[in-house]
Amino acid sequence: MDDTTILKGQVLSFDGSPFDAPPTEAARIDQAVAISGGRIAALGATDALTRAYPQARIEDRGDRVIMAGFVDAHVHFPQTAMIASWGKRLIDWLNTYTFPEEMRFADADYAAEIAARYLDLTAAHGTTTMCSFATIHPQSVDAFFTEAQRRGQRVVAGKTCMDRNAPEGLRDTPQSAYDDSKALLARWHGVDRIGYAITPRFSPTSTPEQLEAMGALWAEHPDCLMQTHLSEQVDEIAWVKSLYPEARDYLDTYEAHGLLGARGLYGHAIHLEPREQDRLREVGGALVHCPTSNTFIGSGLFDMAGLMAQGQTVGLATDTGGGSSFSMLRTMAAAYEIGQLRGTPLHAAQLLWLATVGSARALHMDGRIGNLQVGHEADLIVLDLASTPAIAQRTAQAKDIWESLFATIMMGDDRAIAETWIAGASR
Ligand code: GUN
Ligand code: ZN
Repeated sequence: MDDTTILKGQVLSFDGSPFDAPPTEAARIDQAVAISGGRIAALGATDALTRAYPQARIEDRGDRVIMAGFVDAHVHFPQTAMIASWGKRLIDWLNTYTFPEEMRFADADYAAEIAARYLDLTAAHGTTTMCSFATIHPQSVDAFFTEAQRRGQRVVAGKTCMDRNAPEGLRDTPQSAYDDSKALLARWHGVDRIGYAITPRFSPTSTPEQLEAMGALWAEHPDCLMQTHLSEQVDEIAWVKSLYPEARDYLDTYEAHGLLGARGLYGHAIHLEPREQDRLREVGGALVHCPTSNTFIGSGLFDMAGLMAQGQTVGLATDTGGGSSFSMLRTMAAAYEIGQLRGTPLHAAQLLWLATVGSARALHMDGRIGNLQVGHEADLIVLDLASTPAIAQRTAQAKDIWESLFATIMMGDDRAIAETWIAGASR
């Protein structure tokens, strides 16, 4: 039996980068998308699609926007329950709120409860793929992957490794971090839609020996991603300098231990030295912008326009729970606001591209997800551009779809996400 569904609406996809040309020229709007076997089968005019798939079920979403599900390139699912904790800078915030909460993930039942809660919340916000830090506990990785696998989601995660400057109960060792990560990777990497990321938290919470062990593991498994944090706060950079006196700069603490590469994801990357920018661009590692986190924890203003102009690979992310929202709409709004403070505001097409194609590229998954293209996995959302009275009255006088989309980016939340589809099925 033909399982094809034709979804009608304003189908938004990208056939280029809105950073390379006038932003809207990179986007296309089709009347319909055909979904078959969990993948995108075709895009085009409704007539053409109904002729090509005469048996298809047709679902009409009117003037709603149908686009790829959001891809969140840096999150900490274990921080779900302590999101929006008041008033601390990074190191205090970690010690006061984050580490005590992460301690609770020694309990596999709690880990399972939060993994399910996090994936419910993010699906409601239109996020279909994310790259997550777990905690140091292997059972927190199992909990997250088990729940994602049940939902058929494409996700990436890894056991967070820390062997110093963290409390008793949240420290591993170079050897146990290597062994546990290796076992998890063997169990999960490439199973269904799951990917493993080797995950040293950041240089201050790892000894050089642990970074070396993580680098060795990555060299053995170069198809895995590697995720960490880089140059988020000025105090943190000074701390790294004191812990690694030999290093040329923060990035060098990773580079010297085999942790700089094209499949590396470097969260925040705000206060970069020219040498660090050059090396990241040369190897093609991804910088992950976490704007709600950067304003919330008071970290600084990421230079999106400058870094994109350099040709860097950049993803967009919530950084739950340093970030103050599960919503990639709110995250795009914050990226826009940071751009404004730097004098370089981003266009709605650029924001939407970053939240989908850009993040998928950072994860090396842009051939599979993050865009509505033939053959891509059918992870998509249906956006209501009039989801609240305030947005509806703005949309009512929008000159074009970009004005409506921008109002939803700036003022929208989970109410704007009318539907979330994962692997071709509405959930
Ligand atoms: N740097 C190291 N760990 C973390 C974390 O959990 N959140 C943020 N925002 N920065 C970090
Ligand atoms: Zn983070």
